[in-house]
Amino acid sequence: MSKQLMYLKHRFTFWERQGVAGHEGLEPSILKPGFVHENDLKNFQEFGHIYGYYEFFRRGLVINDPDVIRDVFVRHFDVFRDNREMYFGEDSINLNLFNLKGDDRWKRIRSVCSPAFTSSKMKAMMPYIEIIGDEFVHSLGHLFDETQTNGSIELDVKRVLSAFLTDAINSFAFSIKTNALKDPNQPIVEFGRKVFAVESKFSLILSVMLPNVAKLLRVQPFPTDAINYFKELTHKLVKERVEENLTESKKRKDFLQIMIDANRESDDALVTDDIKEIFESHDIPEPKPTAGQTLSTIEMTAQCILFFVAGFDTTTSALAHTLHYLSKHPDIQRKLYDEVESVADFSADTLATLPYLNAVIHESLRLAPPVLRVERVAKHDITLNNILVPAGTICTVTPYTLHRDSRWWSDPHTFNPDRFVDSPLPHPYALLPFGGGPRMCLGMRFALIEMRLCLTKLVQNFRFKTSASDPHLEYYMGNAFFSPKEVVLGLEKRDK
Ligand code: HEM
Repeated sequence: MSKQLMYLKHRFTFWERQGVAGHEGLEPSILKPGFVHENDLKNFQEFGHIYGYYEFFRRGLVINDPDVIRDVFVRHFDVFRDNREMYFGEDSINLNLFNLKGDDRWKRIRSVCSPAFTSSKMKAMMPYIEIIGDEFVHSLGHLFDETQTNGSIELDVKRVLSAFLTDAINSFAFSIKTNALKDPNQPIVEFGRKVFAVESKFSLILSVMLPNVAKLLRVQPFPTDAINYFKELTHKLVKERVEENLTESKKRKDFLQIMIDANRESDDALVTDDIKEIFESHDIPEPKPTAGQTLSTIEMTAQCILFFVAGFDTTTSALAHTLHYLSKHPDIQRKLYDEVESVADFSADTLATLPYLNAVIHESLRLAPPVLRVERVAKHDITLNNILVPAGTICTVTPYTLHRDSRWWSDPHTFNPDRFVDSPLPHPYALLPFGGGPRMCLGMRFALIEMRLCLTKLVQNFRFKTSASDPHLEYYMGNAFFSPKEVVLGLEKRDK
């Protein structure tokens, strides 16, 4: 056998030689035909919670065991600070939080952005989101008038939900008022949609799996006109805000303003309650952001674009799946309606305390986590669960299968919100739709607020039914976002 062949054999039997289960040889699971969630489930059934894989010349280890996940996300955060490196083209998108190595720049940008997501900021946002929710319900009601029916209409709820979420994110990030359902042709709505419309195409695969080659070839996975639009928009808005120089009382504290103002805040203001919460609950030292930290305009642009990409499709899919499950379970929908029917106070605090609403949301995120991969890369060699994990290995959690593990979830494939009513989580790391540890989703609080408000308003006003043709949900092949192509449901207006 030639030396090269011996080397390859040695390289691709690394896991086998350690007694770790898994497929042999070079097999990037994301490139396998079929849907990522289905392939993950097959692997779980064949290999169990922990198994090795190879992605070209990189090693990967799936770690769907809550104790090992805690080790990676929290206990050994110093080793696992980085997400997988990807190449998204120019800096105005590359420098986003998710893509940054967990170094000082990530810490600085996360510290500057976190204050936008504190509970007090979220509470202040609530009246704006409520107005958007009312306009959304009103525009949906109009669809009945347009089709001149008082009975039932069928529509793709994913499409209409994406309009609500576009309006919510535009308001949160820029205080821009859009009514995307009424006027879908505005550039911000059109380009917003375009950024997310990424198929699992060659340029994306290259950017995710071989970022250095993508950089060399100057491959851009996202549509350049959409990126340029957001780049110019952020530049223009920052310039306008700085020139306006409004007094504190006149300023709307949206996300952009928080980034612009960061250099004027005191130390205390930057150590926000949600940063404290995450670090305290995970028993790790809290980072100490310092005052005077600023973001360049390019860094601000990258975060604004990320918020569209990270926050839009994920929340749309989560809500669309929830309505899909409710339509299949009229009894659960009825129970939810009974709880929210008389809600008139849409404050963040009130919605957060509705037990069944929150149970429905958790159960939907359990069965249909919008993100199918949460990854960390080992900075240096480490032993996990008696397995040697060499530097550079990608440690991967696949929430779709973790959430279906019968060790933690009884009757795991059934939609049953009651499992979350008055019951503690079976393990703090058994439910991870938002990831975990210091790099967990920064927008979780905002996403939950959007979901609670939107669901309450929708269920108060409409009844959701399975479509007459009841098509199965279809997904994008090889895509690590669990995003249905469309979710067609029947809708009936409730008599008020
Ligand atoms: C249901 C909706 C959402 C889900 C399921 C979700 C899920 C996730 C997951 C799984 C991660 C990776 C976490 C990890 O590596 O541990 C993440 C990261 C992130 N998400 Fe979300 N997300 C949602 C909505 C949002 C929204 C609305 C925003 C912003 C407005 C947002 C902003 C971010 C950011 C900035 C990161 C990167 C954090 C970092 O690396 O420091 N997400 N999200």
